[in-house]
Amino acid sequence: MPVSSPSTTQPPTLTLESVDVWLSGRHVLRDVSFSLGPGSVTGLIGPNGAGKTTLFKVILGLLHPQHGRVSVPGADGSAHRSHGPVGYVPQKLVFDPDMPLRARDVVALGLDGDRWGVPLSWRRRRGPVEEMLEAVGAAHLGDARVGDLSGGEQQRVLVAHALVGRPSLLLLDEPLANLDIRAEQEVVELLARIAEDQNVTVFISAHDMNPLLQVMDHIVYIADGRTVNGTTDEVVRSDVLSGLYGHHVDVLGVHGRILVVAGRDDQAQLGEGHGHDHLDIPDEPGVVSVL
Ligand SMILES: Nc1ncnc2c1ncn2[C@@H]1O[C@H](COP(=O)(O)OP(=O)(O)OP(=O)(O)O)[C@@H](O)[C@H]1O
Ligand SMILES: [Mg+2]
Repeated sequence: MPVSSPSTTQPPTLTLESVDVWLSGRHVLRDVSFSLGPGSVTGLIGPNGAGKTTLFKVILGLLHPQHGRVSVPGADGSAHRSHGPVGYVPQKLVFDPDMPLRARDVVALGLDGDRWGVPLSWRRRRGPVEEMLEAVGAAHLGDARVGDLSGGEQQRVLVAHALVGRPSLLLLDEPLANLDIRAEQEVVELLARIAEDQNVTVFISAHDMNPLLQVMDHIVYIADGRTVNGTTDEVVRSDVLSGLYGHHVDVLGVHGRILVVAGRDDQAQLGEGHGHDHLDIPDEPGVVSVL
């Protein structure tokens, strides 16, 4: 099983072995196995409904697989893993502009992860909170109401919230959705810097791999609950993705972006990749929809 890590000498931060999940009778994750190494940046790439959020919930311990094993060193077997060794930035988090919550308060909530315990005093929280706001380039936003911040600024605050408990693994579910290209680039660079500076394993879900191409060490590509993983060059290939989807797909380079395009009667997925050695343009491409 390939381990995504700049250094394969260190033990993995996360390992999934033959994980199967059924929800309401649907087989949502199918025999998923991979490992992520310390300090790596991995993209969890796949179209809507592929199983990305479900996979994150399994890693967090919010969902228990019917079969297989999830291992996060430092986590206890049954409890929710968020706020422990796993930091989490969920998909779809909307702040009410009228909510009287400052950016600094949102970050501090990450230190009170054990909600049943006694909260830390503000004096004890202040140091780590300010340090983390600084680390994500949001020191100047501490007093701002979160509801007033831009999408990119909110993402920074949420990353600081997820990191302040010093996790070894950071999961971000579609953190680039709703960001413009500039904010997207800034958040991607921030995440790569965090992985390197803090040796945090960063796992980012996205339906479009293109913004992540410069920073991804590895990719876990998911379609209909099945995964393939490896380096981008190993995974984003027509033969590999055709096997995953169960029908022919092509990997195309278009204006410097990578598209994964289904055959004539199928739909297409926007994919990722780097290197265009396997560029393969079909004579009669099917309907191309950008997801
Ligand atoms: N509680 C549930 N009961 C039944 N089916 C579910 C449940 N939760 C999710 N699913 C189904 O599992 C599949 C995977 O959902 P999931 O939310 O993990 O996809 P996703 O890759 O995160 O999609 P998106 O890109 O839209 O966020 C979907 O078909 C979804 O309808
Ligand atoms: Mg999702």
